[in-house]
Amino acid sequence: MKLSTVPSHVAIILDGNGRWASKRSLPRSLGHYQGGQNLFTITKEIRKLGVKKLTVFVFSTENWKRPKEEVDYIMSKSIEIFESRKEEVDHKVHFIGRRDRLPQGMLDLIATIETQSEAFDDAFELYIALDYGGIEELIQVAQNKDVKDEATFKKALMQPHDVDLLIRTGGELRISNFLLAQSAYAEFYFTKTTWPAFTKRELHKAMKQYEKRQRRFGGL
Ligand code: IPE
Ligand code: MG
Repeated sequence: MKLSTVPSHVAIILDGNGRWASKRSLPRSLGHYQGGQNLFTITKEIRKLGVKKLTVFVFSTENWKRPKEEVDYIMSKSIEIFESRKEEVDHKVHFIGRRDRLPQGMLDLIATIETQSEAFDDAFELYIALDYGGIEELIQVAQNKDVKDEATFKKALMQPHDVDLLIRTGGELRISNFLLAQSAYAEFYFTKTTWPAFTKRELHKAMKQYEKRQRRFGGL
């Protein structure tokens, strides 16, 4: 696919795993499993299209409100999927969000992936938002004494890069506490397609939309 403009930073709110499964009379857990696998497919395609940074919202500071069995499944399956496919990850990976509530298995995986990713340059970077919340990020920044202007403010964020294109799958029309400051001038793309069903073709559609957008950043 040829594109005249490619967003440098894409952020995705991966939503609709549960509904993807329910629609097929499958348990919600299977939706999370398929969603986890799809992350690898879409990450590879996004990189191929020339995007430099991808931030994905995997688990929010509010997702702990879900039933314990579902939270446990999401954590343990994410660990399992990443463990089994980590050799495919040939680019930088960062984790953003709180670390103090994550299970030990997840902390171990994060350490392994981060160490592994030190070998790669910054040509393409994947940021995984896990127990992440935009408000919480801003509270941290508000307490940072080094923050004096826009440049130092951005540097203090967990994700210091502005978002160019924010995609949300699953049909909801909201930002759900994701990258609040970084999305100040992001272009939004909402699709009813659920995350496990979000194919490369769906991604191409979003990128085509972005290509047509006129960004003015408050100017003319
Ligand atoms: C997104 O899918 C995955 C997470 C938030 C962890 P959901 O689990 O929110 O799926 P729906 O929205 O209930 O269909
Ligand atoms: Mg949801």
